[in-house]
Parts: sequence; structure tokens; C-alpha cells
Amino acid sequence: MLSVIQNRRSIRRYKDTPVPRELIEEIIQAGILAPSAKNRQPWHFVVAAGEEKKSALTAMKQGLEREKASPVLPGDRDNINGAEHTLSIMEQAPAVIFVVNTQGFDIRSSMAPEERVADLCNVQSIGAAIENMILTAEGLGLGSLWIGHTYMAYDELNQWLNTEGELLAALALGYADEEPYARPRRSLAEVVDWRV
Ligand SMILES: Cc1cc2nc3c(=O)[nH]c(=O)nc-3n(C[C@H](O)[C@H](O)[C@H](O)COP(=O)(O)O)c2cc1C
Repeated sequence: MLSVIQNRRSIRRYKDTPVPRELIEEIIQAGILAPSAKNRQPWHFVVAAGEEKKSALTAMKQGLEREKASPVLPGDRDNINGAEHTLSIMEQAPAVIFVVNTQGFDIRSSMAPEERVADLCNVQSIGAAIENMILTAEGLGLGSLWIGHTYMAYDELNQWLNTEGELLAALALGYADEEPYARPRRSLAEVVDWRV
């Protein structure tokens, strides 16, 4: 198995050291090489660092406060603390890459089955791109965190992004300042059903 797959961890503590632009470009290039349904390449990346990152995270903070008072995701109230923790990690990371689904639907929209299938395929494609990116980061000696808590500040971050499409995820990036243990995985026997 590739060592980057084996050694990668979600990193939640980062050093101050900035990440050189060339490395961020190499990581995004690896994302671009991912397969995508019908080669639609339904992704767009917004790299935020320094003052711009601060401004994005102010938007996210406002979203989390708004979510407490008037939630878009009422069933997700228990996740506010987790989202605030994720926000503090994003504050610490020297760079955050926001990943936009250029053909995405607003999370509140209902979809026809054909749209749902296209959406599932686009989301799989973008997931493949993000996986390429986090493995490349690992290979370059960088830590990363794949972030979905951005959904809790969906409108505020989409407004900050001000770009075509819908926010899907974010990726915190930087030099790791921790060595997390490997989180447990379910075994082959638990997850595979052989029909041979
Ligand atoms: C789609 C997705 C969203 C995630 N969102 C978050 C998040 O918002 N905050 C966080 O701390 N970790 C987040 N994670 C990281 C997972 O918690 C982590 O991958 C999992 O616990 C396994 O640990 P490992 O990545 O170190 O193997 C996310 C992972 C994925 C794939």
C-alpha cells in the first residue's frame, strides 16, 4: 500500500510556518488530475491565507453565531461545538482551501432524480480530487484537515466566496505540529461481502 495512504492523518495542530505557493499549486494540480463524472471537473478552489483567511473565518464565525439563533440545519444543533473547534483549527492553519462545487445545488433545494444522480456523481468527483490533494500534501510533508463543518456557515461562506457554485468543503493546510495516532478502522471482514 502507498505510504502516503498509510501515514496520512487528519491534522488539527499546525506550525506558524507559511506554506509556499508552489506547494499549494502542486496539491491543487493533483486534485485537478482526479477522475470526474463525464470529465465535468466540477470543482473550483479558493485559496485563503493571511488577512483574506481571517476575513473568511470572520464570515464563518458569524455563520456559526447565526446558526445558534436561527439554524439552517436545525437537526445539527449538537454539531455547533464541533464546528467551533474546527473553526479554531482553521484559524491556526496557515492556509485554507475552500472547495466549490461549480455545478452544486443549494443545500435546501429539492432535486429531480436525474439532478440527484448528477449531483452524487459530481460530489464523488470532487471527493476524489480532495483525496488526491490530501495524499499529495502528505507526500510533500504537509498536514491537512478535510472540513465539512463549513456547512454550518453555508450562506455566510458562499457570500464571502462570491463565486459561481456552492461551497462543498474546505481543506486546512500546513506543517503538522502533532503526530496523531491512527484512528481505528473497521476491518475487511466487517465491510466486505465477497460474492465469488
Ligand atoms: C467529508 C469529511 C468531512 C470532515 N469534516 C471534518 C471537520 O469539519 N472537522 C474535523 O475536525 N474533521 C473533519 N473530518 C476529518 C475526520 O474526522 C477524519 O478523517 C476521521 O476522523 C478519520 O481520521 P483520520 O483522517 O486521521 O484518518 C472530515 C472528514 C471528511 C472525509
